[in-house]
Amino acid sequence: MSMKENLEQIRSEALAAIAADGADLEALRVKYLGKKGELTAVLRGMGQLTPEERPVVGQIANEVRADIEAAMTARKETLAAEALERRLKEEKLDVTMPGTAAKMGHVHPLNLVQRDLEDIFIGLGFSIEEGPEVEYDYYNFQALNIPEEHPARDTQDTFYITEKMLLRTQTSSVQARVMENKKPPIRIISPGRVYRSDAMDATHSPLFHQLEGLVIDKGITMGDLRGTLDTFAKQEFGSDTRIRFRPHHFPFTEPSAEVDISCFVCGGKGCRLCKNEGWIEILGAGMVHPHVLEMGGIDPTVYSGFAFGLGVERIAMLKYHIDDIRHLYENDVRFLSQF
Ligand code: DAH
Repeated sequence: MSMKENLEQIRSEALAAIAADGADLEALRVKYLGKKGELTAVLRGMGQLTPEERPVVGQIANEVRADIEAAMTARKETLAAEALERRLKEEKLDVTMPGTAAKMGHVHPLNLVQRDLEDIFIGLGFSIEEGPEVEYDYYNFQALNIPEEHPARDTQDTFYITEKMLLRTQTSSVQARVMENKKPPIRIISPGRVYRSDAMDATHSPLFHQLEGLVIDKGITMGDLRGTLDTFAKQEFGSDTRIRFRPHHFPFTEPSAEVDISCFVCGGKGCRLCKNEGWIEILGAGMVHPHVLEMGGIDPTVYSGFAFGLGVERIAMLKYHIDDIRHLYENDVRFLSQF
């Protein structure tokens, strides 16, 4: 076989092998074009050619090398395109498939209610005051006119830390602190945790939340209290809501009242929520007792005020029809994700 024929054979063999190859073109490159490859082996025999033959064969050899390289490049591109095509098919995403919903956090119902209440009272010109949960007996009881022998002071009801310190049982403790630190006009609310030595059941918890309100200025009357609570009730429970006052007793207010709202489910006709009463008790309120003003350093002959206190859990349970207070503390995601 002449060198020329030899080269032609290498070319056709190589091109066929490249066209048939599925992956490893490198092996073929070594086989045909490498230092110890077939083309090189043929070219080593160039010395035996006549000077006339050499450039002719040289040119053919160059063409053969170029052809093989071109075929390899083309084949490589084809293989890459096929691989891409295969991946695209395999990894195809059906965007019409139902997705996996990302888990989102939820605002806790107690926070929802507290924020609502804060918004309402801020809208009425109140500002927010905070007080300590570990409190002196003085602010929690004494400054609020709660006498030594009052049952609320019993260790059955109150968590004492020392003889003089306790976990506050009511946010009313903040009233006494605010009176000491601010001059009228005073218009504040104070939300926060309170503690009572109660066993946990469907309606009691040793820790719960209250929101206190206090307004003191010249000429404040029960009419102002009524107007404020009426606005609050309509905003929180719906514009048809009415309120009513029932006489009551709190040591720190005189007169005192328990305040009911007309049932926001039945409108007052009677239903399961209001236990057929048509009314639902939601808070305690009254005119700040002159003695309480005095202890707070405010002259009761010049100033008067009203106060109210409500349970945040109670409002949340009413509003969202929660039948057990424990749901609010157990942090069961099935419960929380409903809000
Ligand atoms: N502190 C009372 C309680 O825990 C609620 C209360 C009643 C607060 C009347 C007040 C008020 O400010 O005027 O039961």
